[in-house]
Amino acid sequence: MSNIGILSLGHYLPHYRLTNAQLEKMVETSDEWIMTRTGIKERRVALTGEKTSNMAIAAAKEALHNAPLTGADIDLIVVATTTGDSAFPSVACLVQKAIHAKHAAAFDVAAACSGFLYALTTAKQFLMTGAAKRALIIGADKFTNILDWNDRSTCVLFGDGAAAAVLGSVRQPRGILSDYLLGLGDYAEYLCVVAAEREQFEQKNLLIRSPYVVMQGQELFKVAVNSMALAVETAAKKAGVDVKDIQCVVPHQANDRIISAVAKKMGIPKDLFFINIEKYGNMSAASIGVALYEAVEQKRIKRGDLIALVVFGAGLVAGANIVRW
Ligand code: ACO
Repeated sequence: MSNIGILSLGHYLPHYRLTNAQLEKMVETSDEWIMTRTGIKERRVALTGEKTSNMAIAAAKEALHNAPLTGADIDLIVVATTTGDSAFPSVACLVQKAIHAKHAAAFDVAAACSGFLYALTTAKQFLMTGAAKRALIIGADKFTNILDWNDRSTCVLFGDGAAAAVLGSVRQPRGILSDYLLGLGDYAEYLCVVAAEREQFEQKNLLIRSPYVVMQGQELFKVAVNSMALAVETAAKKAGVDVKDIQCVVPHQANDRIISAVAKKMGIPKDLFFINIEKYGNMSAASIGVALYEAVEQKRIKRGDLIALVVFGAGLVAGANIVRW
């Protein structure tokens, strides 16, 4: 008997490192403030010409290599991103072209920092119905493109990157045992991308302004903790497993203090949570995939382990999957 599971992983991180020390020269902040409030030491920044699609393609190629498979073996590509190169073509179609996945369906999903699990859960449904046999999912974001670099309350938090996974049939008891996705649209205003151009247009004063992120950090913090804990508990219940049996939790990496609060709320020791936020900050849709990649690489997750993946992001949206690795 088989389940749908993760066959391989890939990732991509831009080479340029932006440290807290450098940020101290850009806005009124300090390494001490950023470290104690968030746990972030540095983040990667994709430079001009290094687009979301380039990062997605690099992560996809590594995941295919690790499977090992080629683009011809893939019949579904789902890319989670809110910072695609442009409104269209989709990043998924650019990936399709680059990996020569000629027979694949390809589309993007927008669920901000939760996107990787939205892509995973969407692709899983296609695989379960037989509509696709092997899927490539990717979380890729160039979040630094939509930051206001004068706003110290947001610009210190985010970085860029991409992660990919190939999904297909695995032998039981391995596989993605449960999914739980939740929309929390009532809190939409807590984290938004805004742009002033529409108002400017109506005033017949066509000033071009790039969209940028605005955030109500403290409100977001509370909803993040509650919804991430709820998501893991609900997904565990759906999988028929006890939360206490989870051997590793891979959470979205938004803030080390959020992860501590989730661990405390759930009564799970914090050392069972995989954390790499110090090196990368919050890479939006890429964060959890890169964390999963590193957790496997560092043998924090081994074949047969029961793990929880849990995300939270703008929308607001949350989600979790229980996986037997
Ligand atoms: N450096 C120095 N001081 C700062 C900085 C900074 N970078 N940013 C804010 N401050 C100041 C504030 O101005 C404020 O000063 P004041 O007291 O004089 O007014 C003080 O620090 C405290 O600010 P708070 O906002 O209360 O700080 P808090 O402890 O809440 O931490 C933080 C802020 C880190 C943003 C926290 O609220 C948080 O992590 N929230 C969740 C954010 C999150 O998860 N975002 C991603 C969601 S996922 C997605 O989809 C993208």
